[in-house]
Amino acid sequence: MNIFDKFQAMAERHERFAIAGVQPYGVVTEQILSPTEGVINGHDTILAGTNNYLGLTFDPLCVAAAQATVKLEGTGTTGSRMANGTYSGHAELERELAEFYDASGAIVFSTGYQAKLGLLSTLMGPGDIVLVDGDADASLYGGAQMSGADVIGFRHNDPDDLDRRLRSLGERASHAVILVEGIYSLMGDRAPLAKFVDIKRCHGALLVVDESHSLGVLGATGRGLAQEAKVENDVDFIVGTFSNSLGTTGGFCVSKRPELELIRFAIRPYIFTASPSPATIASTRQALAIVANRPVLRGSLWANARRLYKGLEALGFRLGEEISPVVAVMMDNEAQALAFWRELLEQGVYVNLVLPPEAPKGVCLLRCSMSAVHSPKQVDKIIAAFVSAAEHLTSERAA
Ligand SMILES: Cc1ncc(COP(=O)(O)O)c(C=O)c1O
Repeated sequence: MNIFDKFQAMAERHERFAIAGVQPYGVVTEQILSPTEGVINGHDTILAGTNNYLGLTFDPLCVAAAQATVKLEGTGTTGSRMANGTYSGHAELERELAEFYDASGAIVFSTGYQAKLGLLSTLMGPGDIVLVDGDADASLYGGAQMSGADVIGFRHNDPDDLDRRLRSLGERASHAVILVEGIYSLMGDRAPLAKFVDIKRCHGALLVVDESHSLGVLGATGRGLAQEAKVENDVDFIVGTFSNSLGTTGGFCVSKRPELELIRFAIRPYIFTASPSPATIASTRQALAIVANRPVLRGSLWANARRLYKGLEALGFRLGEEISPVVAVMMDNEAQALAFWRELLEQGVYVNLVLPPEAPKGVCLLRCSMSAVHSPKQVDKIIAAFVSAAEHLTSERAA
């Protein structure tokens, strides 16, 4: 057995991509024209597969903050948060995150992935138990596994299954940790958070909610699903990323629990990596203020989400269960998904191709995502591209 044999399945997948004439995981955006448009393969393309929910990547205030800060503080910190890499901007952003969430503390990380790996692998250890939603992101599973705790999956969004599994743990349930997301990144559905909170209270477990895809998207001031469901006081830790609604890079954890500060200096993915650049921190701070102060963006985002979902639904496409800024279009099989994805790109629309094992429940899907700054005309073009792609593939099959 050769050490490279385990990559055989990957090689076969890439061969299938080559036969279908696609490179879905190697797309190069040759020019980025706006939050919703780029040039791909030499063609103007609508970007409908990003996480730029509020369209803030080109917001004048965010851009100006980054430009001013790179001049003042340089291009990078060249060190870890724990050594020389905490500037006043990092400390201020932590204070602002805590204030935004009405929490007692916050930690800023270099990416959302590291925030999850870091918190979870440090919070738990061998002998602990962690219950993870079946559709949870790789970062949550990764952090749970890294911790050395016993990892138990429960059926996606199924409070009864979670309750059953906790009951079967007896006394150990009282120090279990439950991991769920606000909005799920691939299918766009949201957790039944109030029910999960009832169960966590009943068993005395801890609850961690990943609001990566719901920060800026849900809640009266954009704090996410916990705010919308009015259960923030029962969530022990909220984790998330800056790379979606905030349009930058980085990650965070906030909590009302004073223990958060205790574990900061034990978190290896916090200690052993350079801190986010000063410019990134400056634009993240602006973006966070915009989430709170510009609710009109959430209105536009949801109007676009409804327009795309209803448009595709009316045409008979099989979609995820809920209207959401993430609209998952289900394909019958991998070959159809590849052909459809290629057709959409040729029509000037980029979406994410998601295949098993990354996609939940073995489905093949085209993940579309909406931004507050897509115009209604762009949304209609996306819908029209789905129609033309379907027609073209049908006529190709008939020929
Ligand atoms: C749920 C979830 N968490 C975390 C991440 C990764 O965050 P980052 O890009 O900051 O590492 C993603 C990717 O979008 C995600 O879907």
